[in-house]
Amino acid sequence: MKRYHLTTYGCQMNAHDSERIKGMLEKQGLSEAADQHDADVLIFNTCTIREKPDRKFAEHLAQAAALKRRHPGKVIAVGGCLAEAQKERLFELYPQVDVAFGPGSIPHLGEWVGSDGVAPRGRFGQWDSFAGDLPSHRERGFQAWVQVSMGCNSTCSYCIVPAVRGREQSRRPGDIVAEVAQLAREGVREITLLGQNVNSYGRDLLPDLRTDFGELLRACDAIDGIDRIRFTSPHPKDFRSPVIAAMAECAAVCEHAHLPLQSGSTRILKAMRRTYTRERYVALVAELRAGIPDLALGTDIIVGFPGETEADFQETLEVVEEVRFDSAFTFVYSPRKGTDAAEMEEQVPEDVKRQRIERLVDVVQRIARERNEQRIGRVEEVLVEGTSRNDEGELRGRTRRNTTVNFVGDAEPGSLVPVRIDAATSTTLRGVSAGAFAVGSARSSAAVA
Ligand code: 5AD
Ligand code: SF4
Repeated sequence: MKRYHLTTYGCQMNAHDSERIKGMLEKQGLSEAADQHDADVLIFNTCTIREKPDRKFAEHLAQAAALKRRHPGKVIAVGGCLAEAQKERLFELYPQVDVAFGPGSIPHLGEWVGSDGVAPRGRFGQWDSFAGDLPSHRERGFQAWVQVSMGCNSTCSYCIVPAVRGREQSRRPGDIVAEVAQLAREGVREITLLGQNVNSYGRDLLPDLRTDFGELLRACDAIDGIDRIRFTSPHPKDFRSPVIAAMAECAAVCEHAHLPLQSGSTRILKAMRRTYTRERYVALVAELRAGIPDLALGTDIIVGFPGETEADFQETLEVVEEVRFDSAFTFVYSPRKGTDAAEMEEQVPEDVKRQRIERLVDVVQRIARERNEQRIGRVEEVLVEGTSRNDEGELRGRTRRNTTVNFVGDAEPGSLVPVRIDAATSTTLRGVSAGAFAVGSARSSAAVA
């Protein structure tokens, strides 16, 4: 039996694509190898959102190429966003690569490697559609990603994603609901709906299928056995009140939203083509918090976008102080070839970017720690994921608000347990198991302090 090894970079969408690459190959009779040495087919599912994942991939590929020189029978396949972005020059840039495919042409990999793990050289998969019906090889039986759309119709001037993942294409609502119902029958308790911009879900569907993301949340919420529904990522420009109402009214939809801010300066937001202002963003946060009590908010922020002045950066710090995010991913702007921002004059010097991100991280971490400290004394509902990363004797899970909790207790992965929180850092909580939840009390956390 031939074996494959898959390395994944990037976001949850890519991680989910990797589950389908695995599912597809296993259906064809290949099995997963523990490492590259044992594998006949070495696959890389790449990311190109910033320069860092590009560099990491180049290093890993060089190692794989060295292995291939010693064992010429091995096949190297490169998929994902970097492959799509470099499509024209990929085989020239990386002569060790046998076959390549983009996020929209995963099934081609299956056709090429067949069951014998031998692939024709120099083939690049042509754009198809998304691989909605490929089987998924999931790491955990109780959690699943469900793709609602692929591609993105936004034109953010810094971002390479629209170029590599194409125009937005929504999956049919019936197919999504059927998949969620099937997952529930298989024992899945938590789903994460995935799309580049979930809030514009449904707009591209034919009139008789047209729906919106709020309706989709309600349809998933109605499926028995699904205790938690998450989604990522929403674009602030399309976050409308029907979705907020659905979040508030659906018991399974978690009190958590990841709402990328990118910058607090309206001037920079305009240059980024985000199509909202600082004020509109802050007003949306107020509307979300009014509609969904105890909502946790995460965000993405970029520093050093071309033309960003100290005053613009100060505005970002002000919004962070004003909104008080529970978590934030912070990035140094990274020019991507083919995007408009990469061509802009006034690129910010590296040392200024570095200095700004350090200042931003300090503020973000202080606020996140303060937000987490407010949970001390409460009992939170935790979905157990496994043992703690630092201490095998403890368990690890996540609250509905998406915070990781390490706790003392005895419970099976996949179960929902109440945990009394007794300590907090900027990214995690600690606690002790507090007995068992009564059936049907899976909503939010109960304040006991
Ligand atoms: N440079 C830095 N960060 C970027 N992001 C997207 N493109 C870039 C870029 N060129 C960030 C945004 C986005 C997250 C997934 O990555 O914050 O929300
Ligand atoms: Fe995900 Fe964007 Fe990276 Fe592609 S480029 S894997 S969509 S983060």
